[in-house]
Parts: sequence; structure tokens; C-alpha cells
Amino acid sequence: MSGAGIFAKVNLCLHVGPRRPDGYHSLGSVVVPIPWADVLDVRVKPGAGRVELILGPGVESLPSGEANLAVRAARGFLDATGRGHDVLIRLAKRVPVGAGLGGGSADAAHVLHRLDALCGHPLRPGVLRTLAASLGSDCPFFLDPRPAWMSGRGEVLTPLVAFPSLALAIVVPAARLSTAEVFRVFDERQVLTREAEGDIHPCLLVRGDRGDGGEMPYRAFDNDLAQVVFDLCPRSRELRDALLKAGAVAAGVTGAGSAVFGVFRTFDAANGVARNLRGAAPGEIAEAFETGT
Ligand code: C5P
Repeated sequence: MSGAGIFAKVNLCLHVGPRRPDGYHSLGSVVVPIPWADVLDVRVKPGAGRVELILGPGVESLPSGEANLAVRAARGFLDATGRGHDVLIRLAKRVPVGAGLGGGSADAAHVLHRLDALCGHPLRPGVLRTLAASLGSDCPFFLDPRPAWMSGRGEVLTPLVAFPSLALAIVVPAARLSTAEVFRVFDERQVLTREAEGDIHPCLLVRGDRGDGGEMPYRAFDNDLAQVVFDLCPRSRELRDALLKAGAVAAGVTGAGSAVFGVFRTFDAANGVARNLRGAAPGEIAEAFETGT
């Protein structure tokens, strides 16, 4: 099996705008890839368009059939290219699910990438990106994972060149959250406090071109979904506080999941903190990473 090219992601900040007519929210986010990867192997042979997924152990909570994002990616690719192949996918999950780390989208993007390469690049890059966006809002990011300003509903990406490398400790509580549920609760609160909307969303879509000089954008570590995440999963707040107490320069929520990250001055510091927090409560996961530039 090869895990090359598969990443998870951290949203260093996430600014959420109003719900759009299509049900998605406009957002603005600084996203960086982290080298936390599922193990994924994709094979093709001539055939009538069958897709088979073999899941490794320990992924009972994951859909194994057509609902799995990796299978949907293969199905989308075959539909777009005329179904001349059968696809076999082997997937061993390493990246926690429901954590806001984008593991499922990363798998889907990798399946698209591999199938495109294995079949001789039948799809234009634009078509591949559209296909990725139809699978998940953050899926296009993983077709070319590098530090980026993410906007639209997540599919519009502006590379942030010379973005600094960061030492991160990432802690994942046992409880996991559904992205849709986090956004749903976020909307509920918006309705309740409609007149305060300007205060809740002070920082929306105007930052599309920030950070090109490599500097940290304003509100670099704010996540507008954090309050909802902390209410749905109080342990996330405790772990965020634990990261700050352990010396994190900054700490926050990534995406719309339960995982929290802390930024440290060195990888050794991040690694030490991750080691200390690992297994602090049953089912908790902690890892340290150095992000790429
Ligand atoms: O795009 P994805 O399938 O990952 O989104 C899952 C859910 O998260 C959507 O159905 C929607 O409820 C919510 N979402 C959103 N706005 C976004 C991205 C996701 O409301 N920009």
C-alpha cells in the first residue's frame, strides 16, 4: 500500500458567512496540510465499472458501501470517463473521523488522483476539481494540498506562498462531531440573534487575497464555529485550554469537528505536549506535526 500524497488538514482560522441559497455557508479559511495520512491503495483493471472497497480493521463506524466518500469518488470518476474499468480500493483509516481534519475528503481526492493517473489522465484538471467539489467542500484542497486561503464554500483556493512552517500538536477527544450538525446549530443561533449578525460575522469573505506576502493573516486563529463545537463537545474546550496551559502560542478548533490544535515554537515542544496529552482520557488521540511550507 502507498500512503504517498495523502494528507489531513488544519483550518488555522475559519470565518463563516451566512447560509447561501444552496444550503452551504460562504467561508474564508487559512488551511494547511498536515502529514497525517490514511493508508490507501487504488487498483484498476478493465471492466464494467464495479467498485469494491476493502476496509482495514478498526473502522467499524465508517460506511463501507456507496456512502463511503472513497467509493463515491471512484463512482464519480467512472461516470465521467465512461466506466471502462473496475476499481479496487483498500483503505486503512489513520486520521480520526468527525474531527475536522478532512480525512474522508483527503481519501476521496487521492482516489480521484490515482484513478486519473492509472487511466492515463482522461479528465482535464478543471473537471477533476469540479468532481472533487461535488464530493465535499474541502475535497478540492486535497487535490493539491498546500497552504491556501479557502473561500467560496471551500472549493475556491488561493495558494499562500512562503507560508511559515508550523509545529502543531493536535488532540482529538473521544467524541466526534458531524459537520452538518455543527453548521445546523450555528444557523440556529444566527436566527436567534439576527440583529447581532454583524457582530457574529465580522470577518467574512473580503480576505481572499490576504497573506500573499507570507504574513499571518489578521484573526489568524479564530474559528467562528468554535463556540458551537465547545457546546456540543465540552472536552474540546478543555483540551484547547490544556494546550494553552502547556505553552501553546495559540490554540483553536480546526474545521467543524472536535479536534483542537496548538501552535508551538518547536516541533519538540509540540511533540512533548502531544505525548503528555495522549490518552489523557479513554479514546483520546494526540499527535504532533510540522507543517510544510
Ligand atoms: O461539503 P460537505 O459535504 O463536506 O459538507 C457537509 C455539510 O456541512 C453540508 O451538508 C452543510 O450542511 C455543511 N457545510 C456548510 N457550508 C460549507 C461546508 C459545509 O454549511 N461551506
